[in-house]
Amino acid sequence: MFNKKIIVIVMMICLSLVFAGCQNQNSKVESKIDQIKKSGKLVMGTSADYPPYEFHKEINGKHEIVGFDIEIAKEIAKDLGVELEIKDMRFDGLLAALQSGNVDIVIAGMTPTEERKQNVDFSNIYYTAVQSVIVRSEDKDIIKSIQDLDAKYVAAQKGSIQEQIVIDQIKGANLRALGKISDLILSLKNNKVDAVVLEKPVANAYVNKNSDLYLTQIKLEEEDGGSAVAVKKGNEDLVKAINKTLERLINDNSIEKFVTEATELAE
Ligand code: ARG
Repeated sequence: MFNKKIIVIVMMICLSLVFAGCQNQNSKVESKIDQIKKSGKLVMGTSADYPPYEFHKEINGKHEIVGFDIEIAKEIAKDLGVELEIKDMRFDGLLAALQSGNVDIVIAGMTPTEERKQNVDFSNIYYTAVQSVIVRSEDKDIIKSIQDLDAKYVAAQKGSIQEQIVIDQIKGANLRALGKISDLILSLKNNKVDAVVLEKPVANAYVNKNSDLYLTQIKLEEEDGGSAVAVKKGNEDLVKAINKTLERLINDNSIEKFVTEATELAE
């Protein structure tokens, strides 16, 4: 009688230990945030050819990557209690870098399209811009509408939504896709292409710096180029933390301030 009772109790203790063991194992799978905190740094992938979002600038003789995306990334890192590390690469390589774990987040004025959402997760949108077309100043009276771009060469960044916008909306034109925005600008200046499609703040930044370039009034249909932070799928904790930081920055008008400051810095 007594022995049976003991056996049952011992069995129950054993069983609860097994369960506790299981639970322990589960919590050993580290969350992304824990990994980032442990490493002490948040690694951000970007394509620093996109003023005022992200661009290279010499400040006090020191080479830096600056822009409002960078300021946002710093705030995300600060809220996580870690340092920010920036990895600059080509725009069309960013999502692969995220998938392979080479970077923790991508902030590059990236639009959360349905296609991209199949492969990565996005934060909420933190900024929205419209699409625009720039040309050489000498062509400003010749290229004033989408029709004027018939049979012309129109450039867009490889892997960007602007590439598809040219295909879908500037139907008579020939698309030229290049990896770096700076190469698109150079091609335009050197008569290799006749126009470039860019988000307006970026178009403005380049036109302000290059008097031989001109921002047209051409309106494109899909005007909405919202930007969000991309994270590898399956890291809901990180997306949540990013959204919390973004919410704070949107509510206290910090993003607006960052955009203004970055725009001035790009001039
Ligand atoms: N918003 C566009 C897209 O997501 C262009 C972004 C380009 N960004 C850059 N850093 N070059 O496709």
